[in-house]
Order: sequence, then structure tokens, then C-alpha cells
Amino acid sequence: MKIEQIIEKIKNNNSFSYEEINDVIQKYSDGQLSDEDFYPLLKTIYDFDIDDESLYNLTLSMKNSGEVLDLTNLGRTVDKHSTGGVSDTTTIVLVPVLACLGTKMLKLSGRSLGFTGGTCDKLECFEGYKTEISLSDAFELVKKNGGCMMTSTAKLAPADKKIYALRDKTNLVDNVSLIASSVMSKKLATGADIIVLDVKYGNGAFMPNKNSAKKLGKKMMMLAKRDKKCAKIVYGDMSQPLGYNIGTLLECMEAIDILKKFDKNNPLTKACVKLAAICHSLDKNIPYFVSKNKVIEVMKNGKALDKLKTMVSSQGGSLELFDAKYPIPQKIAYAQENLKIKGFKTKELGEIINNLNHRYNTNKYGIITYNKIGEKIKKGEKLFSLYAPSEELENISKQILDCFEF
Ligand code: URA
Ligand code: CA
Repeated sequence: MKIEQIIEKIKNNNSFSYEEINDVIQKYSDGQLSDEDFYPLLKTIYDFDIDDESLYNLTLSMKNSGEVLDLTNLGRTVDKHSTGGVSDTTTIVLVPVLACLGTKMLKLSGRSLGFTGGTCDKLECFEGYKTEISLSDAFELVKKNGGCMMTSTAKLAPADKKIYALRDKTNLVDNVSLIASSVMSKKLATGADIIVLDVKYGNGAFMPNKNSAKKLGKKMMMLAKRDKKCAKIVYGDMSQPLGYNIGTLLECMEAIDILKKFDKNNPLTKACVKLAAICHSLDKNIPYFVSKNKVIEVMKNGKALDKLKTMVSSQGGSLELFDAKYPIPQKIAYAQENLKIKGFKTKELGEIINNLNHRYNTNKYGIITYNKIGEKIKKGEKLFSLYAPSEELENISKQILDCFEF
């Protein structure tokens, strides 16, 4: 079927079939259709939206554009996906915690994009850590260590890679159907039995508020069910950075801190405990509170920290960072008067720091913050510590200060 006919169907509120959309997706994937040819279809989906039947067919076609992993050899496996946020380092905490409890996760992660940090970039802060390993090696690691964190192979849902790049270029990212098909094509291709979806909302996420996040969550749940997967949606507030550190290296260090010293009031710790408890309770079919206590236990007694070390070593990474002190910041900004934090420009904060690291081709720049929304800061107390190149120090510092709302 021609693209124009599918577009007509969408405009007339008719569903398209798997065969109809698959023909177009495959042709776009292998280059028979150009970006210019494909763009009108994306724009129509963006403007008119599509029904559940069509959305599932689109997602299935994207899923089937590449390899679909068969994880049955590993037994029951769980996967977690976050729709992206700032200072979200949950994966590096979650995978070892679950591994300690016998809940297996083969976590395929991406690189930093726009305002969101990438888990693979953070893992590579452990010098020598190989994120690009073969699937057979990954399987062995899951069997040996109970989990593995690596990059997504190019073979998984390649249609999504092309479509995502085109959406990014043409400003068609923020659409529930397009995000749902993008995320779920990859998740369904990953082959886990249980999928926990962490849908973020707020000014540091794609979805601006909880209502829109719920729309996205419902669509993703629908897609999981149609594909006969067990899925659970969790909603996460992204109206401020999740952790206190922002920047690839600093975020990796924060993940280690979280596992070194359990602090039940730390917001990143809370998010990790919640996600891990949900994953483990679904996997083992036990009540949430039982699961939660087991999660907290392995975080408190150091087992999860040891497990992370084992996982890092197994993938060639150095353990130096586990004992490293924080480098001395290039600047510390202090409150000039008594202040109360009203909010953050979260997305902007993420962008400033991601851009800085990209421009200097490094992972070491970023900030440490000390407060969350609603907290008071006395005159003379630290507002943030900044790691930045000297020639940009004042400029970046000013930009960051602009992201605090008092
Ligand atoms: N993450 C994805 O993988 N796809 C989207 O469209 C948005 C966030
Ligand atoms: Ca419609």
C-alpha cells in the first residue's frame, strides 16, 4: 500500500493493518523510501493521531524491523525502561540490587540525547567498561552475575532509530503515539517477560504533566498487553532533577554513593527502591512490601555494592571510581540571601550540562546541587558546586543560576 493511502485512512479515522504499515516501514528501513517520502506519514500521525489497532500494528512492524531477542534460555527476565529524565541514575543501582535478589535483567541502554543522560555513557566512567559486547557474552554474564548492563545492539528495532532521528530533526518527538511506538518497539524486541515502565512527567520530561504521562502509560500498557507481556507502569515526577548530581561522571558517582550509604530520605534512593521492589515483586509474585524490605536489605548490607563491583569487573571496568573522592569543583556558588527553592528549569539544566560535555568531548563536567523544591537555603550556604572549563566558568555558572527558581 502506498503511503498516501495510509495517510488517507488516518485522516478518515480508519485503521491500517499490519501488512499495510509493515510494507511502508520496511521500505523506509531499507532506504527504498526517503526521509522526504516518509515525513508526511509521521506528520499525519502527529496531527491526527491513530487508533489502538493501528498503533499496535505500527509498533509491531517497528519491532519486527530487526532482531527480536529470545531470552527463554535465561529463564524469567525483567526489563525496566524510563522515558528519560535529568539525573536519573536508577539503572546502575537497580540492576545489581535485583541481581542480588535473583531477579534477572539484561539491560540494554542508550547514550545521552538532548537533555537526558545516557546510562551507557555513565557506565563508561568505569575506565575500560565494555558496553558493546556480544549477546552471547551478555547471556553468560546474566547467568554468572544475575544481570548485565550494555548498549542496545544496532539490530534491535532499527526502524525506530531512523524514525526517531527523523522525528528529532523535524520536531515531531512529543506525541503520545509516536513515543509509545518508539519505546515499546524496542522493549518488545528485547524479549523480557516482565516490563516495568517508568513514565516521567514534569518540566524535565517529554510529558509535561501527570495527565499526559497517564495517556502515554495507558498506550504503552495496551501495546504490552496485545503482545502478551506482563507490564506495570510507574509514574515519576521530573519537575526537578531526580538526584543531586547532574553530569555523566557525577551521576555515576552518585549511583555508587547510593549503594555505599543507605539514606531512606534521598530522592534517588527512594526511586530506586520503588522500582526495584516492583520489578522483584512481579518477578517472584510476592507482595510489594516484602519485596521492598528485601531490596532495602541488600542496599544496606553492602551486597548490592559488591554486586555492582563484580558486574563492572566482569565487563572490563576499573574499580577505581568506587574509592575515588569527588574532584575539587572549579566554582562553588553560595546563596547571597535567605532563599527557598520554588522550582528548577530541569530540561534546561540537563541541556546545559550535556552540551558542555559534548562540546569538550568529556564526561567530567556538571554540577552538584544540595536542595530540592520547597527547601530553604540560608544566606552563605552552598547553592551548587560547578565543574566546568575555566574559560566558560562565569557564563555557565550564570546559566545554571538562571535554572533555579526562588
Ligand atoms: N524515548 C524513546 O525511546 N522514544 C521516544 O520517542 C521518546 C523517548
Ligand atoms: Ca483520528
